[in-house]
Amino acid sequence: MSILIKNGRVITAADDYLADVFIDGEQITLIGEGLEIEADTVIDARDKYVIPGGIDPHTHFDMPFGGTVSADDFETGTRAAAHGGTTTIIDFAIQTKGHSALEGLDTWHAKAEGKAAIDYGFHMIITDMEDNRLSELDTLIDRGVTSYKLFTAYPGVLYMDDGMIFQTMRKAGEIGALICMHAENGIVIDEIVRLALAEGKTAPKWHALTRPTLMEAEAVHRAVAIAEVADSPLYIVHLSSSDALEQVTAARDRGLLVFAETCPQYLFLDLSYYGEEGFEGAKYVMSPPLREKWNQAELWSGLQTGDIQAVSTDHCPFRMADQKVLGKDVFTKIPNGAPGVENRMSLIFSAGVVEGRISPNRFVEITSTAAAKLFGLFPRKGTIAVGSDADIVIFDPDRKETISVNNPYTHHMNVDYNAYEGFEVQGFSETVISRGKVIVRDCEYVGKKGDGQFLKRGLFGGLE
Ligand code: URP
Ligand code: ZN
Ligand code: ZN
Repeated sequence: MSILIKNGRVITAADDYLADVFIDGEQITLIGEGLEIEADTVIDARDKYVIPGGIDPHTHFDMPFGGTVSADDFETGTRAAAHGGTTTIIDFAIQTKGHSALEGLDTWHAKAEGKAAIDYGFHMIITDMEDNRLSELDTLIDRGVTSYKLFTAYPGVLYMDDGMIFQTMRKAGEIGALICMHAENGIVIDEIVRLALAEGKTAPKWHALTRPTLMEAEAVHRAVAIAEVADSPLYIVHLSSSDALEQVTAARDRGLLVFAETCPQYLFLDLSYYGEEGFEGAKYVMSPPLREKWNQAELWSGLQTGDIQAVSTDHCPFRMADQKVLGKDVFTKIPNGAPGVENRMSLIFSAGVVEGRISPNRFVEITSTAAAKLFGLFPRKGTIAVGSDADIVIFDPDRKETISVNNPYTHHMNVDYNAYEGFEVQGFSETVISRGKVIVRDCEYVGKKGDGQFLKRGLFGGLE
């Protein structure tokens, strides 16, 4: 099958030009002006952007967490991602305490295989690291899982102590893997939570008020120091606050291989959302929590200067009706996480490009290219070039939508609310091509489950 995309404005992280793009099979094979070539399908992209498919390097589909399982599985979650212009996700497989990481990987392969609408890779969450398990990390590399997430948060669940963090980082540095860090001081936070509960503070807002930004900054600082001693690159996930960003910036100014992502929730939502009536604040119970609004400008500035390299979603949805409600009596029982995989591209384009904070090139870089580079997928993914996978979005920079759980264009996620309800966005993914197949045509899903393939990722190679 071949596709010719005509008259579009091709935008990558580096280039911006008018051209036709020819796809033969799964790859881009020709790019040029006024291509006269026969194709099975011709798409007119006049007045539209032709951009690399989005890459969301942080999702949790079908994840057991907080006494329940995240509401999107690999079928519904990747389909929603496709609607939003994302053609690759990297999800988190879990090694549970006392069990092999390889067993965890098999479990996640079984969850995704035959279900995913778009291509996917896995990070591995490591929760303990006895010496005899370190060699499993070599096997993970062979199997294309080249990044590991460690937690200084959630004691007793996913938390890892500093000794194990050091050991895992040392090994990662040796074998060319990238450490992803959930940086919050969970030990101190648990003490603050105990104090709050003793005072009868049980409403959703106390989730946020017991997780100060300084406890995020402290954990980032510690992770940076341990990574420096262990000689390992470090990627801070879901960075939420100015205090934490200062630590990343300081590390980068010292020349360390420290990177960070932030997420739309920290750029668009803020602490005041927990004040919504009744139990509504539970929609935004996530870790790290939403912060005071002024932090948003600092995070945008980090995206502008390059101290923050990527925007992921940390998509981890739980329905209000039967999942978030587990914590109706006490915030500690509210499953942590929020939806967003579908709305990332439009939100970032709208506040980023339309409102003049970043260029279209930088938009592509932070939503696609940087993640491809950092996570061993470039140049197969993350760009429009001859030889790259034909993961392409025909994006209308002028189209406006109001995000809502009730808007059939903006909500296909399997969850009964949208965290960005009522937000007006400009810039919308209309047609989405995944490895040479049109899976969304004029906003209608025309793919099928199982179109997506597992991606064996390469070693960490930096951003260059
Ligand atoms: O609240 C969150 N972020 N839930 C998902 C798990 C994690 O820590 O990323
Ligand atoms: Zn996390
Ligand atoms: Zn996460």
